[in-house]
Amino acid sequence: MWYPVAISGDVTDKKPKGIRRLGEELVLWRDLDGNVVCQGARCPHKGAWLGDGRMKGNAIECPYHGFLFNPEGKCTLTPAMGRDARIPGSLKVPVYPVREKHGLIWVWWGDDRPESELPEIIAPREIKENDRVYDTISWNKPVHYTRYIESVQEFYHVTYVHRDHWLNWLDFMFLYGTKKKFGLDGKENYLKATMIHNHHVETDDDGMTFRYSFDHGEEDNPERSIHYVITFSFPCMVHVETEAFATTSWFSPIDDDHTEHIFRVYEFPQLKPILRHEKLRRAMSTLQCYLEKYVQDPQDYKIMARQEPRISGGGVNKFIPVDEMNAKFIKTRARLLREARERREGVVGAAELSDGMVGDLDMATDEAGSGQPDQRPAAAETKRRAPARSNGRSRNGSHANGNGSANGNANANGNGHGSANGNGNGNGRAKGNGEAVPAAEEVEGWSEDRAAARS
Ligand code: FES
Ligand SMILES: [Fe+2]
Repeated sequence: MWYPVAISGDVTDKKPKGIRRLGEELVLWRDLDGNVVCQGARCPHKGAWLGDGRMKGNAIECPYHGFLFNPEGKCTLTPAMGRDARIPGSLKVPVYPVREKHGLIWVWWGDDRPESELPEIIAPREIKENDRVYDTISWNKPVHYTRYIESVQEFYHVTYVHRDHWLNWLDFMFLYGTKKKFGLDGKENYLKATMIHNHHVETDDDGMTFRYSFDHGEEDNPERSIHYVITFSFPCMVHVETEAFATTSWFSPIDDDHTEHIFRVYEFPQLKPILRHEKLRRAMSTLQCYLEKYVQDPQDYKIMARQEPRISGGGVNKFIPVDEMNAKFIKTRARLLREARERREGVVGAAELSDGMVGDLDMATDEAGSGQPDQRPAAAETKRRAPARSNGRSRNGSHANGNGSANGNANANGNGHGSANGNGNGNGRAKGNGEAVPAAEEVEGWSEDRAAARS
C-alpha cells in the first residue's frame, strides 16, 4: 500500500530530509530532474545517518566519509580510495518506490513488484477533485496511528475535549454561535451539542474508503445541528467536510509508538468573495493549521497519551452504534493485516534464504551487485539472519507484507473476546456494529510476528 510520508514542499534539492516511517530510517531527496528519491537512511559503510548528508550532483553524500550514493542506491565514490577505485557492489542503500501526488510524497510499503504493477495511490474524490486553495503542515506525537484515526473519525468527543482553551472560542463562535447573539452564545450551544443524529456509513466500491455522514447537535433540538461528512481511506487518511470548513489528516506511522500527523486546511468558501487574493486565503488556512497544531491537537493528545491499550484493534474497544466508522476501520484493518500475513507466509515457504552474513569482519563485498536492495520476506529474514546485519539489508521487520502497515500490533493485549459491540442501540441503527469487530485471535498473530521480528 502507498503511505504518505512527507509534504512535497518539505523535500527540496538543497539538502536531504531524513525521516523515520513505518519503523525504518529513510532519507528523501530530489535528483537533478526534480524527482523524489527515497532510500534507506543508514550508510552501509559505518551506519552514519544520511539525513545529515549533503547533495552532490545527482547523488547524496554521506556526512561521515563522503561516500556518494546515486538515485539507484549504488555507491559511486569512496573518496578515501580515490576516484578510480573499484567500488564493492554491496556498498549500496535500499531504494523504495516513491510517488508524488496530492501535494504529498508517498512510499510503497508492501510486496516487491515492478513499478508498472504497483497500484494507484488510494485517494477518494474529496482529494482528487479538490481544487480549493490549502495549506499543509505536519508534526508528530507519541501516539499509535490507530488511536489517532479513531479520534478524528468521530466528532462527538469535541464537546468534551475541545472546550477549555481560550482559542476554542473561535470554534464556539463561528460554528455554534447564532448571528442574533453575535456568536456569543457559541459556548453554551457547543456544550449542549452532545448528540449524533442521522448517522450513516457508506463504503466505496473498492472497499478501501468509508464515508460517514451525521449531524452533530443538541439532543432536544436536533434541527440545530452541524452536518458533517467524514471520509476515511486506507491506509491512514481522514477528511472532514462541513459547510463551514474542510480539513484532511494523514496519519503516517513512524513506528509502534509515534505518528506523523500531516494536516491540511482548505480555504473557507465564505471568504472567497472577501479575500480575492489567493495568498490571503492560504494565509487563513495556515492560521487554522497552527491552531490545530497548538490548540486542538494537544487537547486530543492529552486523552490519547493515556489511552490503553495504546494500539487499537479487534476486541479492544466497546463500540456504540455511532462508532460504526471506527468499527469498520478496525475490522477492515485486521482483515488486511491477516491477508498480508497469509501472503507473506506463502512467500516465505517458497523462498530460498541465506543468513545475510558477508564474512567474519563484515567487509564490503561484491555480493548482489545489482544495486537493488535485498527484499526478502521479513519473517524469514529475522529468523535466519545472523545478528550482525550487513549492507544490502533493506526491509526488515514487518513491512515485507503487502498491506496493513508495518507497525501495528493490532491487538497487543487482545482480551480474548471478539466483537465488542452490538450493545443496544435503541434506534434500530445497530447495523454494521454487531459485525464490526473481528475476534481478537484474528489479529494476534501480527503481534507475534512483530515480536519475532524484534528478537
Ligand atoms: S559511514 Fe558513510 S561514508 Fe563512512
Ligand atoms: Fe479532537
